[in-house]
Amino acid sequence: MPTEPLVTRVRIIDSMFPVVRGGTYCIPGPFGAGKTVLQQITSRHAEVDIVVIAACGERAGEVVETLREFPRLTDPRTGRRLMDRTIIVCNTLAMPVAARDASVYTAATMAEYYRQMGLNVLLLADSTSRWAQAMREISGRLEEIPGEEAFPAYLESRIASFYERAAIIELRDGQTGSLTIGGTVSPAGGNFEEPVTQGTLKVVGAFHGLSRARSDARRYPAIDPLDSWSKYVGIIDPQKVAAARAVLRRGHEVRQMMTVVGEEGTSVEDITEMLKADFFDSVYLQQNAYDKVDGATPAERQQFVFDRVLAVLQKEFAFGDKDQARKTMVEATDLFRNWNYAATDSPEYQEILGKIETFLAGHPAPQQEG
Ligand SMILES: Nc1ncnc2c1ncn2[C@@H]1O[C@H](COP(=O)(O)OP(=O)(O)OP(=O)(O)O)[C@@H](O)[C@H]1O
Ligand SMILES: [Mg+2]
Repeated sequence: MPTEPLVTRVRIIDSMFPVVRGGTYCIPGPFGAGKTVLQQITSRHAEVDIVVIAACGERAGEVVETLREFPRLTDPRTGRRLMDRTIIVCNTLAMPVAARDASVYTAATMAEYYRQMGLNVLLLADSTSRWAQAMREISGRLEEIPGEEAFPAYLESRIASFYERAAIIELRDGQTGSLTIGGTVSPAGGNFEEPVTQGTLKVVGAFHGLSRARSDARRYPAIDPLDSWSKYVGIIDPQKVAAARAVLRRGHEVRQMMTVVGEEGTSVEDITEMLKADFFDSVYLQQNAYDKVDGATPAERQQFVFDRVLAVLQKEFAFGDKDQARKTMVEATDLFRNWNYAATDSPEYQEILGKIETFLAGHPAPQQEG
């Protein structure tokens, strides 16, 4: 069983919904929610030896962009060209459906080849929905009996047998190699109740569901922190993860309640819970993919920062009024956000850490002050 975390350096994935070497995950999301961008970020920063990208039924422009861009980029881990460790299996929307069907298997076979050399391989398939559509067309032309939504009846077993190729293996010489598979799913209208998403959810170990509301609010990566899940254990203690999730859930409940009773009818304690959830979302779950420092957070830094963030979430503030609560949480948000942009070895990083420690030690309850 795979248990070694695969660090992607995307905080919301590594800390909240981890992936392991040899495991599987899927990213379903509505059109334009950021599936392709998320996979590109992962292909750049994930701590693996080889990345195989199956651009399956993608728009030609997107593939061309990747092909042009990757040879120019340097691998942030090794300093060599990113292209040296990346394989892209191109197969644009305009190509025949049979080629599209085959491209996913081609990519998986190449990935297995490198795994057999004792390397850690990550296979990214974008998008498996287009692959399923190719299956549907081929099956239709073969006049097979259609199943749900005209997909062939064997759709689920095909999806399962694709993801089953992911594994960590021990070679004869004692080395290990791993193949991790991550596939995007683009269900029409973002409705996850359709055969491809459902068939995928049955077999994968982690689900990173993108939400339209989050991507519209430009909260990237748009992975929904309430809907998503992972069966794996990552770099953060599961109890701490559960504590952070509880805050998110509570914050969500308060927000729902507030739409009914308004802010007047909401207590300071409840507002504080909601502000804490917002704080966690904006300083930890969201990440600026285009920033050099914030764009990729190594595992040790995630563990260190997570503890500080959790300390804020678990702190009993006992605010006197809502304004004070807002002001304090804005202060915390600014501190941590600036911290995210400071390089780990910079003096600025230490300086902000000092301020954060002061923040955590301060803010006693008002009655204690007097
Ligand atoms: N992490 C991110 N940071 C900043 N912008 C992002 C991020 N993710 C997505 N975007 C924005 O959203 C746009 C659409 O993203 P993307 O192409 O990844 O969507 P998609 O889900 O792959 O769409 P489709 O279903 O059409 O393939 C991007 O061009 C970019 O502007
Ligand atoms: Mg895309």
